[in-house]
Amino acid sequence: MRVWRPQAFLAFLSVARAQPAPYPNNSYPIVNATNPGGLDNAISPPFYPSPWIDGSGGWDDAYQRAKQFVSQLTLLEKVNLTTGTGWMSDACVGNVGSIPRLGFPGLCLQDSPLGIRFADYVSAFPAGGTIAASWDRGEFYRRGYQIGAEMREKGIDVMLGPVVGPLGRNPKGGRNWEGFSPDPVLSGIAVAQSVKGIQDAGVIACTKHYIANEQEHFRSPGNFEDQGFVDALSSNIDDKTMHELYLWPFADAVRAGTGAIMCSYNKINNSQGCQNSYIQNYLLKGELGFQGFILSDWDAQHSGVASTLAGLDMTMPGDTDFNSGLSFWGPNLTLSIINGTVPQWRLDDAAVRIMAAYYYTNRDKAAVPVNFNSWSTDTYGYEHMHGQAGYTLINEHVDVRQEHGMSIRLAAARSTVLLKNTGVLPLTGFEKFTAVFGDDATENPLGPNGCPDHGCDNGTLGMGWGSGTAWFPYLVTPLEAIKNEVLRNNRVVQSVTNNWAYSQITALAKQATVSIVFVNADSGEGYITVDGNAGDRRNLTFWQDGDELIRTVTASSNNTIVVIHSVGPVVIEEYKNNPNVTAIVWAGLPGEQSGNSIADVLYGRINPGGKTPFTWGKQASDFGPDLIYDPTNGALSPQDNFNEGVFIDYRYFDKNNATPTYEFGFGLSYTTFEYSDLKISKSSAGPYTPTTGQTIAAPTLGNHSTDPAQYQWPANFTYVRNYIYPYLNSTDLAEASKDPQYGVEVELPEGSTDGSPQPRIAAGGAPGGNPQLWDVLFTATATVTNTGKIAGEEIPQLYLSLGGPSDPKVVLRNFDRLSIQPGQSATFTADITRRDVSNWDPATQNWVISNYPKTVYVGGSSRNLPLSASLDLGGY
Ligand SMILES: *[C@@H]1O[C@H](CO)[C@@H](O)[C@H](O)[C@H]1NC(C)=O
Ligand SMILES: *[C@@H]1O[C@H](CO)[C@@H](O)[C@H](O)[C@H]1NC(C)=O
Ligand SMILES: *[C@@H]1O[C@H](CO)[C@@H](O)[C@H](O)[C@H]1NC(C)=O
Ligand SMILES: *[C@@H]1O[C@H](CO)[C@@H](O)[C@H](O)[C@H]1NC(C)=O
Ligand SMILES: *[C@@H]1O[C@H](CO)[C@@H](O)[C@H](O)[C@H]1NC(C)=O
Ligand SMILES: *[C@@H]1O[C@H](CO)[C@@H](O)[C@H](O)[C@H]1NC(C)=O
Ligand SMILES: *[C@@H]1O[C@H](CO)[C@@H](O)[C@H](O)[C@H]1NC(C)=O
Ligand SMILES: *[C@@H]1O[C@H](CO)[C@@H](O)[C@H](O)[C@H]1NC(C)=O
Ligand SMILES: *[C@@H]1O[C@H](CO)[C@@H](O)[C@H](O)[C@H]1NC(C)=O
Ligand SMILES: *[C@@H]1O[C@H](CO)[C@@H](O)[C@H](O)[C@H]1NC(C)=O
Repeated sequence: MRVWRPQAFLAFLSVARAQPAPYPNNSYPIVNATNPGGLDNAISPPFYPSPWIDGSGGWDDAYQRAKQFVSQLTLLEKVNLTTGTGWMSDACVGNVGSIPRLGFPGLCLQDSPLGIRFADYVSAFPAGGTIAASWDRGEFYRRGYQIGAEMREKGIDVMLGPVVGPLGRNPKGGRNWEGFSPDPVLSGIAVAQSVKGIQDAGVIACTKHYIANEQEHFRSPGNFEDQGFVDALSSNIDDKTMHELYLWPFADAVRAGTGAIMCSYNKINNSQGCQNSYIQNYLLKGELGFQGFILSDWDAQHSGVASTLAGLDMTMPGDTDFNSGLSFWGPNLTLSIINGTVPQWRLDDAAVRIMAAYYYTNRDKAAVPVNFNSWSTDTYGYEHMHGQAGYTLINEHVDVRQEHGMSIRLAAARSTVLLKNTGVLPLTGFEKFTAVFGDDATENPLGPNGCPDHGCDNGTLGMGWGSGTAWFPYLVTPLEAIKNEVLRNNRVVQSVTNNWAYSQITALAKQATVSIVFVNADSGEGYITVDGNAGDRRNLTFWQDGDELIRTVTASSNNTIVVIHSVGPVVIEEYKNNPNVTAIVWAGLPGEQSGNSIADVLYGRINPGGKTPFTWGKQASDFGPDLIYDPTNGALSPQDNFNEGVFIDYRYFDKNNATPTYEFGFGLSYTTFEYSDLKISKSSAGPYTPTTGQTIAAPTLGNHSTDPAQYQWPANFTYVRNYIYPYLNSTDLAEASKDPQYGVEVELPEGSTDGSPQPRIAAGGAPGGNPQLWDVLFTATATVTNTGKIAGEEIPQLYLSLGGPSDPKVVLRNFDRLSIQPGQSATFTADITRRDVSNWDPATQNWVISNYPKTVYVGGSSRNLPLSASLDLGGY
């Protein structure tokens, strides 16, 4: 019997419960609507061994090259590839060790999903949740490609993005804006196009955070404000909801070839994300056939052996706690291999996965040396900032922006959503007296990058806060851009940007012929608290007394345009109904060209075509279960039961007959569109066959000595303080481990070291899952006519009713963005795949087409679906 450390497996599982025995025939006890979970059922069944890469789905060439590379490596070199060098030890936010013998410089991992964090001369792109409003595959791809190209030129190997977790279960979730949309199909298409763009630029995309990381409060164990120690929150999700909602966009990312996936801080069904064998081994590497590598969120690794066997491939930033100088891997990984606890094939697989992603994205051809340093803007400084070692040239200040500012301006304008317009828009620029109101119209007095990680809400809101941010090269403010418009025509424009100067606001509003009010709502990552919001929003109203600002202006101005910069929905029913509010525009988090983008829309150079990628509810409670803000379980894991299942956002509103202010998919144009002539054609794809057979055996690449003397520090090695190396400090293994529990005998999870061929998973078979899930079963076409007087862009949307009693009323399945001249028509064409018409069946662990009647709907929003047709599923 192999041994392992119980501490490792149970580390931070303060709900000290042993993992249950494997269940026969996949009969997992799951949390679901009839069995709503709580502590007893919210368990994550063990799944071992960790599946090894097989090169399927276009990865074979990369796989063969990776195997060849890793075959040359020593054990210490393999450990170097998998282990981060420690927080602030090297130039990037994450770095793995080098392989000097082969001239391999290590890997640089860098934030963020919307541009490069901690670097100068970079672009600040629209946030994920904003570009989602473009519903445009081309914009998703171009944004990904351009961010990727900037990363490549700074020397970054792995971009820490895109985001589809959080998905956006509740709009208060602090990091929702980093991802795309609470709809899994819109998110899935956006993430796939983003991954392709990033990786075509020659950089590895790291899709994150896997999975159910739906709130900031309690995401990690620790002391939380004044609430004392609280263990990490457990997101308890049933199998059907997992597949039909949260896992869905990850499947698209894997199918698109994402080279990396980041496991999340939170627990899933009471097992830590980064050592959860069910979600990593079974779902991701097994069922979804993921070929790349799993890396931990920063300090989300909580064990050595247990996380290794549960499928983790890279630890970030490498140390147990920031700057502890200790690691669950590094020397401990070396030890766990030479003492026989972890089979060598598992380490080989981790190394091959990392290098396969490297070759898959052509990093060998695209790489340039890292030419910036995250921890300083100085030209010269310490290469190893934390250890204060290696004083040298650290910032070459390479301007990597190219002409991306022009794309950013256009992308943000095309992502702007016109929610209300009584006819005042577009403005002409000849308005006699334009008044601009709001702190959100102007620049942060502290500078566009004046608050660390954008952790404040001063001036116009161009992005949220936290690690998912980039430094602005400049920030064009709305006030600057509007002044330019108006002054061109020699008209009058004035502003009040102090939100509390009520008498001046009233005085100006009375004079104005048009008033434009800028308001915002911010959120971010939980390590920064802004105005009492610890990442997650406390409410869904405006910040900086924005509501009072709007009320003050509208009391004196019958032509008030409200422009919203926000991370998600805000409660605006009052303004929808106020006749003095003549227009409402949502501009999201537009990035560096904010003012130009909004001016393009307000003054009609761009006819707005964006559609809201989330629902605007009349009140916060309309969105369903709230976030957990207070510990529910003492110091133990707060239990967050996702009892609403697949019913989030519009699906929840539909189910509860709640009328939203503006529904998912809604957005106006300066022209109008009509829908007609829905036709469905059926393909000859035939029935679905589950994947069968067995995998190959796990390859072991080379061998290793078990002699501790081979793994000691090289003679005369100059080491950096607190830096994580692979070497052992002693030939006494227990001493080298520095772990009082070293060598304590415990049973390893059953099957965890077994490298023999394994049964293939029925719903699997290739990256993304069983390839037949993407068979096109039907193609729908419909005619969209521009019935107005100017050219415009419309986003026809295809929804399905899957017909069952536990299915949402409708679910989005496809869309396109069409540019149509006035009086002209265009044809909307949308495929419907097997996955689109299927439900997840927990009993057979596969996708099935239910016998309920299925209906296709086409129209301009989730509640404006004039066309419908039924689907004939015979033969599938
Ligand atoms: C819900 O979970 C219980 C307990 O695991 C199981 O018996 C039941 O079949 C599940 N129901 C559905 C709809 O999956
Ligand atoms: C591991 O990486 C470190 C840091 O880059 C490097 O100094 C060391 O030589 C590497 N060790 C091996 C065995 O390649
Ligand atoms: C090895 O890991 C244990 C925790 O599992 C940790 O306490 C110890 O400090 C680590 N050792 C080294 C040398 O990093
Ligand atoms: C092997 O090494 C790992 C990592 O240090 C340690 O946790 C484990 O207890 C060791 N097992 C044995 C049998 O020595
Ligand atoms: C920045 O905004 C905060 C609220 O988020 C406010 O308290 C502070 O006074 C503002 N500072 C400046 C310089 O505008
Ligand atoms: C909602 O939160 C914002 C930001 O903290 C705050 O400015 C506002 O006053 C809050 N709204 C209400 C109604 O409490
Ligand atoms: C609308 O604006 C006018 C001033 O133009 C004002 O007299 C009226 O009270 C306002 N109405 C509302 C509902 O605020
Ligand atoms: C606002 O009020 C003025 C003065 O009564 C009127 O001329 C104008 O048409 C009104 N504007 C709107 C948009 O209702
Ligand atoms: C290590 O450094 C010492 C002192 O400079 C030198 O005498 C010795 O030869 C070196 N050893 C090796 C293996 O390079
Ligand atoms: C290992 O030895 C080096 C060099 O003496 C020392 O700096 C480091 O702190 C030691 N590491 C551990 C984990 O004991």
